[in-house]
Amino acid sequence: MTESINAGTNNTIVLEADKLTKRYEDGVLALDELSFTIKSSEIYAMLGANGAGKTTTINLFLNFIEPTSGEARVMGIVTHKEPLLAKEKLAFVSENVMLYQNFTAIQNLDYFAKLGGKKNYTRDDYRNVLLRVGLQEEAHNKRLKGFSKGMRQKCGIAIAILKDAPAILLDEPTSGLDPKAGYEFIQLLDNLRSEGKSILMSTHDIFRAREIADTVGIMNQGKLVMQAGRDELTDKDLEQLYMKYMAGHMEAAA
Ligand SMILES: Nc1ncnc2c1ncn2[C@@H]1O[C@H](COP(=O)(O)OP(=O)(O)OP(=O)(O)O)[C@@H](O)[C@H]1O
Ligand SMILES: [Mg+2]
Repeated sequence: MTESINAGTNNTIVLEADKLTKRYEDGVLALDELSFTIKSSEIYAMLGANGAGKTTTINLFLNFIEPTSGEARVMGIVTHKEPLLAKEKLAFVSENVMLYQNFTAIQNLDYFAKLGGKKNYTRDDYRNVLLRVGLQEEAHNKRLKGFSKGMRQKCGIAIAILKDAPAILLDEPTSGLDPKAGYEFIQLLDNLRSEGKSILMSTHDIFRAREIADTVGIMNQGKLVMQAGRDELTDKDLEQLYMKYMAGHMEAAA
């Protein structure tokens, strides 16, 4: 596979789960032969109840944990075989963004950009990316200590954008965002998609998922139980399908 991704113009597979299986040390089978592909300029939303395996999937792509069998690949690189190379291709925003509370927003961006090997960004670049993610200018030089969860989330997303990786992984990115910030966040994802990014997000927000994702997958007990393209589903379909699979989940657990 070549390294070149011409933003938005080709259909390279960027993220791929291939029979990805994870059994934790205590015996819990969190993922059971999960397979899916995400191309460049594509957003994939993973839905599923608590414990369905969404965070486990993301952690396997990041090689925070090792698969029991199967592979997670980014641009053809097997994440547990070449973790450092794979990490270069991935930007990640976790649900609880871990940043330096005593640094300002700009200082956090500068620190993490340099840590990621990006040494040429200017103050203007930082300012522009913070404005792009919707962090008001008055906050740029304030310490993160006083920030709300949503404001910290925006800084995390700004850092992910600065990394300029072909793939972005987001674990419940809209949790903690107010409705306006949630709406703006969806516009931002749309923007990143048109730049050619490949985006995998886990979410509990089925309506936002349908609004923005090209493909929606529903997970249940470590398996992908439904996958559909956005044009195949209405909001009502998706809600009913979700409830149906969740009902199945409850019966199985009873
Ligand atoms: N470190 C761990 N050790 C053992 N079991 C774990 C570990 N992490 C997760 N699990 C189990 O694996 C399963 C999948 O968990 P995971 O966190 O991937 O779900 P999730 O879909 O992200 O859920 P949520 O919507 O609550 O974030 C659950 O049964 C969970 O209890
Ligand atoms: Mg999770």
